[in-house]
Amino acid sequence: MTGPHSPLQVLALCGSLRKASLNAALLRAAARIAAPDADIEVADWLGRLPLFNPDLEAESPLAVQALHLAVAHADAILVATPEYAHGVSGSIKNALDWLVSFEPFIHKPVAVINASPRAHHADDALRETLRTMSAGLVGERSFALPLLGAQLDEDAMAASPAVAAVVAEALAALRAEIARQGDAGIPVFPLR
Ligand SMILES: Cc1cc2nc3c(=O)[nH]c(=O)nc-3n(C[C@H](O)[C@H](O)[C@H](O)COP(=O)(O)O)c2cc1C
Repeated sequence: MTGPHSPLQVLALCGSLRKASLNAALLRAAARIAAPDADIEVADWLGRLPLFNPDLEAESPLAVQALHLAVAHADAILVATPEYAHGVSGSIKNALDWLVSFEPFIHKPVAVINASPRAHHADDALRETLRTMSAGLVGERSFALPLLGAQLDEDAMAASPAVAAVVAEALAALRAEIARQGDAGIPVFPLR
């Protein structure tokens, strides 16, 4: 839980399981850029989630419990995912499916960074899913960063003013959404 001066607790969900993932590198770079004002935990374990099955929800598998705990404890969520065949990746959709009936996800401030703005199909679908799940989705559009083909590794991204500007913009939008929800008296987890 965050106070006005404590670091924002952000859970970063990456839609790629690839070791050399551009999106994962971006989220790790964002964590470096954001510290110490925000504490971004990159969930690099989404591949351990079983495929979503409503029959398993009553007694959630351990990996699902870990996801639920991480979401409940986060002040906000940051998502970066590749587009596969004009859709979102299976791994991010699977993680979100496990959160559809998880109450603490409702109103949770969520920012999406699109590292390949030409990939608008996945981005549109992701935003539609997040809105349908009643997330506190920030921004009229996702935060765009044309990193595909830019040949930047994690270190270069962490040193890039363009990446830093987008990360700052996304975090500011998340903080504004938290403040807006607080002013409106919307109950959110963690309870503030
Ligand atoms: C199976 C597959 C399908 C893809 N389909 C698309 C697509 O429809 N549109 C697009 O812009 N890029 C597509 N790409 C490119 C990926 O989005 C791109 O390589 C991205 O960087 C992968 O993310 P990652 O580096 O985080 O793993 C596809 C890549 C793969 C492997």
